[in-house]
Amino acid sequence: MTTPFPKSPTFSTIDEPFRFEGDLYDLEIEGQIPPELDGTFYSVGPDQAYPPKMGDANPFNGDGFVRAFRINNGFCDLKLRYVMTDRLRAEREARRGLFGEYRNRYTDDESVQNVNRAVANTNVVHHNGKLLAMKEDQNPYALDPYTLETLEQYTWGGQMEATSFTAHPKIDYETGEFIGYSYAAKGEATDDIAIYSFDKHGNKTWEIWFKSPYPGMIHECAISENYIILPLMPQVMSDERIRRGGILFQWEPSLDQVYIVCPKGGDAGDVRFFHAPNAMPGHVVNAFDDNGKLYLDLPVALDNVFWFFPDKDGKFPPPGSFGTEVTRWCFDMNDKNSQASPNVISTMAAEFPHCDDRYVGKPYKYGFMQASDPTQPYNPERAGPIMGFFFNTFLTMDMSTGKADTWFCGDTSSTQEPVFAPKSANAPEGDGYVLGIVNRRDENRSDLAILDAMNMSEGPVANIKLPVRLKYGIHGNWVPASALA
Ligand SMILES: [Fe+2]
Repeated sequence: MTTPFPKSPTFSTIDEPFRFEGDLYDLEIEGQIPPELDGTFYSVGPDQAYPPKMGDANPFNGDGFVRAFRINNGFCDLKLRYVMTDRLRAEREARRGLFGEYRNRYTDDESVQNVNRAVANTNVVHHNGKLLAMKEDQNPYALDPYTLETLEQYTWGGQMEATSFTAHPKIDYETGEFIGYSYAAKGEATDDIAIYSFDKHGNKTWEIWFKSPYPGMIHECAISENYIILPLMPQVMSDERIRRGGILFQWEPSLDQVYIVCPKGGDAGDVRFFHAPNAMPGHVVNAFDDNGKLYLDLPVALDNVFWFFPDKDGKFPPPGSFGTEVTRWCFDMNDKNSQASPNVISTMAAEFPHCDDRYVGKPYKYGFMQASDPTQPYNPERAGPIMGFFFNTFLTMDMSTGKADTWFCGDTSSTQEPVFAPKSANAPEGDGYVLGIVNRRDENRSDLAILDAMNMSEGPVANIKLPVRLKYGIHGNWVPASALA
């Protein structure tokens, strides 16, 4: 390439482009990987392969780059691959950036007007023998879970007709049912929503379409035994704005957050809209229902957290400023009143949660997350400035009390989203390990930390040292070897 990457926050410090695909066999281990851990920790994040056509880009615009830690018999190997999207192929062929602003096709190079814009950089989910690299504005790409070879852009064999699919589907552990949705389901900035479910073999079992209260971002969903919930956030799309070359999303402080609830298998007339005051619903910990009362746990930020999607006056939160309330919402499905009732579980600035996957949609006790703890020290002289998302703590939270068992990663480090791996398929809830990447910012490299989920404050039982830096990723999942087989 003949154009250098910009020195903007998106491309600085640990978030400088990495771009190196490869395999690392037998990573160096401090401590001991628990011998019962057998599976793969997959994650993905944006790693822009070419300098942006527009001169700079927001961090969500990078090409999907998958990391797969294969753990077996106390050893760990790592595989790093780009998702070979149509977009990345086109840019490699041209040897330059061809795609314009985030989710704004009007700013693309003439030569790629008919090339799919998917970056597949937000989550990697294993289902029906395929690893799906997902981002919410396009359909996923299917990868081979062993080789990470990109197979095809995936529409469940043409069964899914929406123009996009969430990066946060939910899977019922017992049945293998896979539930997800599309917003902007008839094209960018449209107000159409579609919900889909597929059985464990990938056959479509449910599909409904309806209109959103406003054309906002729906980043996550939750399922309970009987319902699906879509939290609508006041980040609003505008086709007129992107036609002018502007930003797709604009924060709207006058709009409610809306929790869209539909009974599983229901039709469009069954959909209900529960309103709550303006705030930004985050990632789902879990949901469950009991006698018509539907509970949803998730961190809620009291203001916009995306500095690259400002409000109409250009006001945005400074990078590194971050606060949430981990909230349990109750929706009374037997009451016609459509106000959502919140109960704040914790005021820790926690995000990127997982529950024990075996309890998705069921009553449960534990959430596993990372947090940005401002009471802990940070050494910018050694670790560099904080320029983007920043977290410094892994934790297990008792969701019934909000009590957190925490581990601070150190004053020159930062964390990435942790996942949970049970000790065995039959282990009690929470009896297992939290795995998460730790960026050693002063050493320009990363570790994979493995902690006892019920004893986080003791620190890692194993620290797997990488000779390379892994950029800040977005989401991932633990897939046990039994599921891959
Ligand atoms: Fe997400």
